[in-house]
Amino acid sequence: MAYKKVKLNHISRKALEVGHVYKYPVFYKDIGDIYQALIEQDESFTKETQDKIDKLQLKDLYVLTKDHPLYEKDTQVYIAKILDDNSISSKLKSEIIHDMATDTINELFSGEINKNKIDRSTELVNDTIQLILNDESAAKAMLGVTSYDYYTYTHCVNVSIYALGFGAHLKLDKNKLNVLGRAGILHDLGKKNIPNEIVNKNGRLTDEEFSTMKSHPVLAVEILKELGENNQLVLDAIEQHHEKLDGSGYPKGLKAHEIHILSQIIAIADIFDALTTKRSYKDALKTFDALSIMKNEMTSELNPHLLAEFMVFMGNRIDRYK
Ligand SMILES: [Fe+2]
Repeated sequence: MAYKKVKLNHISRKALEVGHVYKYPVFYKDIGDIYQALIEQDESFTKETQDKIDKLQLKDLYVLTKDHPLYEKDTQVYIAKILDDNSISSKLKSEIIHDMATDTINELFSGEINKNKIDRSTELVNDTIQLILNDESAAKAMLGVTSYDYYTYTHCVNVSIYALGFGAHLKLDKNKLNVLGRAGILHDLGKKNIPNEIVNKNGRLTDEEFSTMKSHPVLAVEILKELGENNQLVLDAIEQHHEKLDGSGYPKGLKAHEIHILSQIIAIADIFDALTTKRSYKDALKTFDALSIMKNEMTSELNPHLLAEFMVFMGNRIDRYK
């Protein structure tokens, strides 16, 4: 069965479970805008089909938009199952959760925002927390799958992962981790309501553009409040993620003790990811170089105690060279 010009949603190829019978077809992109069914409706996803994905090097799979809610239900069940399965490696679990979080946040930024998408991101944050609290090697595995290429949505997933890993390293309780993970993944949501040419501009913003850009923390809070978010800690952590200890940040120019500690953690994760990912106008810095810049050039902006501990955390957890 081949489809052309239908409404499709991107899905994670890692979300497919061998042996599961899918109630809806799953597609891959063939030539031009023609999509072929990889799995037909009511067909089982077999090992052979999985081999076909590898053989054809299919990176992107799709379901019909009308079937997406069914896919989401399937993935919830699948994640719950794999989290409890000790035979599955932390690396694979991390890759699956990371892929799904990336898709969810991509949809949040590219399509309309609704409560369902926010709830879905919260579920994935909680899955990540469960994974890293139950398994020492999982935090490291999770960091290993962060993306080096900068897109607003990959950045949001990365920041959430860094903040959660660091929060677990600081031995924060589950509630605080939940706030950190959610604030991390949603911190730049306000950019959705800022013109694309400003958000994705290559190079320096004009004063006017910068002042528009500076509204994104407050815009995020407005969007979330409208959708019924009432966790004040999450809202504060998002609103304050560009505040700096010396009062030179925005939107309020808060000073050291006025900035919530969870916001200070998000700020460190945010800056670290911005420095270590590749943009069209700059290369990615290596972990060591990024941490050096943060330590030497941002002393008045970032909490020095937290930063020192973040350096210990990154030193312990990352052995890749990037
Ligand atoms: Fe931001």
